[in-house]
Amino acid sequence: MRRPKISLIGGGQVGGNIALLAAQKELGDLTIIDIPESENFIKGKALDISQLLPLEGYDVKINASSNFSDIQDSDAIVITAGFPRQPGMNREDLLKKNLDIISNVAKQVKKYAPNAFVIVVSNPLDAMVYAFYKVSGFAKNKVVGMAGALDSTRFRAFIAEATGLSSQDINCMVLGGHGDTMVPVSRLATIGGVPLTSILDQKTIKSIEERTRFGGGEIVKLFGKGSAFYAPAQSSVEMLESFIKDKKRVIPCASLCHGEFGIDGYFIGVPTVIGSGGVEKVIDFELTDSEKKALEDTIKAVKNTVKETGL
Ligand code: 2OP
Repeated sequence: MRRPKISLIGGGQVGGNIALLAAQKELGDLTIIDIPESENFIKGKALDISQLLPLEGYDVKINASSNFSDIQDSDAIVITAGFPRQPGMNREDLLKKNLDIISNVAKQVKKYAPNAFVIVVSNPLDAMVYAFYKVSGFAKNKVVGMAGALDSTRFRAFIAEATGLSSQDINCMVLGGHGDTMVPVSRLATIGGVPLTSILDQKTIKSIEERTRFGGGEIVKLFGKGSAFYAPAQSSVEMLESFIKDKKRVIPCASLCHGEFGIDGYFIGVPTVIGSGGVEKVIDFELTDSEKKALEDTIKAVKNTVKETGL
């Protein structure tokens, strides 16, 4: 039985950190792909990571290349290729530049790894995962976007900070698009099974929701150049691990909805079961009127961005 083969399209900050974290979990052999101009750089990263593995005894192979044929027969692919946000930009401002990149990647993935499970990370996320799905023609269970996992871990981190309690015991989710209209569902957040709403007052909860919505932008502003990468990488690995190990974790992901939450034909952040079948199920549940209204607003925003792809 061979090790799973995982390819990372894009060897920048997010891709490089996914390689490191996935190798440290021995999820499979890794191939990093980037453009020819970056080939030496990603080969250097792959070599550097491969040299830390003996320290803890991790046994995986890690390669880098600018040749798409090296993704041949991958079991899983994570796409981070594309330009990151700069200060003053919305994720949506990246659409035109990144659409060409994702469309080309989709054609190459279809050619060389038609059976892979694909996690799209590039921004604007909800439109890029849609573009990948349309151009590749992949089945809907084989394509998913990474956003809710990241937004939810930010939500969790802010709750941990405000309460002084362990983030390990915090369970919460962010639904909707990966933009300023995302919906942190505070009503369902719990700490050790206790509702968050009985631990923090409404004013504090509202300010945590607000900080979560702009969590990516806060980091873009601090960096002054580029966007977050550690938490996006770990969030991608969480999804990858659930697929590789068939864990069937329930993670908020941008999944293609056909009827769930009243959404039809769009990838939106919803609770998703990820297992060896890829996206195995979207779990629909009843929302309150104000949550429904917030979800409608985020769906509108996602539809507008998707429309701009012309797909
Ligand atoms: C973020 O929210 C890069 O979109 C990513 O940080």
